[in-house]
Amino acid sequence: MTTRHPSRRARAALTTLAALAVAGACRGRPASPEAPLLAEFAGAYPREARPNGRVHEVALTAAEAELPLLDGGKLRVWAYEGQVPGPTIRVRLGDRLRVRFTNHLPQPTTIHWHGVRVPNAMDGVPHLTQPPVAPGGTFVYDFVPKDAGTFWFHPHVRSSEQVERGLYGVLIVEDERPAPYDRDVVWVLDDWLLDEQRQIFPQFNTMHDLMHDGRWGNVVTVNGRTSERLVVRPGERVRLRLLNSANGRVFKPDLGALDARIIAVDGLYLREPIPYRGFELAPGNRLDLDVRFGAAASGMQAVVDRFYEPQPHHLADVVVDGVEAPSARRSFPSPAHAHVPVWRGALALPITKSFEIDARRGGEHGIEWTFNGQAFAGHDHDAPPGLTMRAGTFHRLRFTNKSYRLHPIHLHGMFFRLLARNDVPADEPFFRDTVLMRGRETIDIGLVPEDVGRWMMHCHVLEHAEAGMMMSLAVEP
Ligand code: C2O
Ligand code: CU
Repeated sequence: MTTRHPSRRARAALTTLAALAVAGACRGRPASPEAPLLAEFAGAYPREARPNGRVHEVALTAAEAELPLLDGGKLRVWAYEGQVPGPTIRVRLGDRLRVRFTNHLPQPTTIHWHGVRVPNAMDGVPHLTQPPVAPGGTFVYDFVPKDAGTFWFHPHVRSSEQVERGLYGVLIVEDERPAPYDRDVVWVLDDWLLDEQRQIFPQFNTMHDLMHDGRWGNVVTVNGRTSERLVVRPGERVRLRLLNSANGRVFKPDLGALDARIIAVDGLYLREPIPYRGFELAPGNRLDLDVRFGAAASGMQAVVDRFYEPQPHHLADVVVDGVEAPSARRSFPSPAHAHVPVWRGALALPITKSFEIDARRGGEHGIEWTFNGQAFAGHDHDAPPGLTMRAGTFHRLRFTNKSYRLHPIHLHGMFFRLLARNDVPADEPFFRDTVLMRGRETIDIGLVPEDVGRWMMHCHVLEHAEAGMMMSLAVEP
């Protein structure tokens, strides 16, 4: 394929241009130590959306429902459009998405577009970016996504309850170019804590969940089923999109002998695909895989979660069956995005801000989770931001986990790269919007915020977020 070369050259040109621009801006002064990092960042992802004029209208209603989930039993849930998982919304890059949302829940709610770089007013954070949508109320979410990839949406009001009850859906932003896949499959990984009546255990934010890693259920599902099955033909090529929508559970899927490559993490393409050898999907994370089936493939492969080794969970079966599919697309290169900065030298720069994570007694739930000793209470959106950054500047943030619990750290409105774990440089060839921290771990991340506004930073263990582990970051022009 010759297409790789022009794009690589174009990238190199971009980098040079950016380097010149940065150098030009600093003429007369010694070049700032961030300059090379910013130069490398140029072109990492588009600064602005590029609307193509098409509008994609969606009506979305949240309401109580009773569904034959979990293999036939009647489960009382809260659902978008009467489905759990909610509908998968597919748009093309450049399309404008207009979601007319109606709340028929017994509680106020909002929709947050996880991982999508939206205008701040569309981010769905109650009180901060919009008033909560009261029962019976409506709100129109209207934006043009800037990035193609796998994203999702969920409430940002009492999320530990609302997400657990079934409110989440996938948003897929397709590339402008046709995809080299025979099919595009979404697997939403979740777990449910059921009581003896096989209904959702009705107490949320229990002391147990708050003190540990959030609410881990007793039933694990993929797309709401305990027996998800993907049937493909020999010779097919599948884009498999995984999302972890659980409140607290981490999944580490074992794909056995499947020939799979990771092509995207948290929506964005990798610098180049890497063979799949396991990946820890924390709550909020997405993982896109390029899975190829040989012309002579047949049989069945079980996909098993092995995050917690002593207790593996069967997730799904992949069955290869039927006659060989035509092979036109098999030889196309996997999509890649190429311009993911390495940011060598980032760890030599000073830390912009350190955040210590810990728990203490107190607050509405009896235990509070804090960033630097501050617990966020649902409506304190007048509280000053935890950090103010100028758009277009590089920042190194450090998180120190003083606790023994898991904390997937999630940032709204921006992507970041993991720079180090426990001071050991990390070399992940991709951006993230959520990164898992283990007990007593320290991580460093690097980022260049571009979108102006007040963006939340929080733990995606939803019970931890509910009990205070949330803070806003300000990005100023
Ligand atoms: Cu998916 Cu603020 O979160
Ligand atoms: Cu946490």
